[in-house]
Amino acid sequence: MITIMIILSGVYRSVIATAERVLSARTRQLIKWEHPAGPKTIHFWAPIAKWGLVLAGIGDMARPADKLSKNQTVSLMCTGFIWSRYAMVIIPKNISLFAVNFFVGCTGLVQFVRIYMYEQSLEAQKKEQKALENKTD
Ligand SMILES: *[C@@H]1O[C@H](CO)[C@@H](O)[C@H](O)[C@H]1NC(C)=O
Repeated sequence: MITIMIILSGVYRSVIATAERVLSARTRQLIKWEHPAGPKTIHFWAPIAKWGLVLAGIGDMARPADKLSKNQTVSLMCTGFIWSRYAMVIIPKNISLFAVNFFVGCTGLVQFVRIYMYEQSLEAQKKEQKALENKTD
C-alpha cells in the first residue's frame, strides 16, 4: 500500500511539474492554476474524489427502499449539508467542495424520502391488515 502511494505521489508530482512547464499563461489563468484551492492543492482534488459518493448514491437509487440503510442515508445527508455550509465559510471559499457536498446531501435526502415513504406504506399495510382481521372476527 505504502509503495503504491509513493509511486502515485511520484506520478502526481511529475504530472504537476510537466504541466508547470507546458501550460500557457492564458491556460493557467483559465484553470486557476495558482489559486489557493487550485489543481496544485488537496482542496481541488479532495472534492473531485468525493464525487464518487454522489455516484454511489445515484447507483443506490435503483436499489429497493427496503435494502437501504436508514442510518447510513441520514449520516450521508447530514455530512453533505454540514460540509456544504463549511465549504462556504472557509478561506478560500471552495465552490467545488460546496457543489459535491450539496449533491451528497441531495442524494441522501432523496434516499431518505424513499425510505420514509416505504416505511409509511408498510405502516398503512399493517393497519389495513388489522382492520380486515377485526371485520372477520
Ligand atoms: C441505527 O441507529 C440507531 C440509533 O443509534 C441504532 O439504535 C440502530 O441499531 C442503528 N441501526 C442499524 C441497522 O445499525
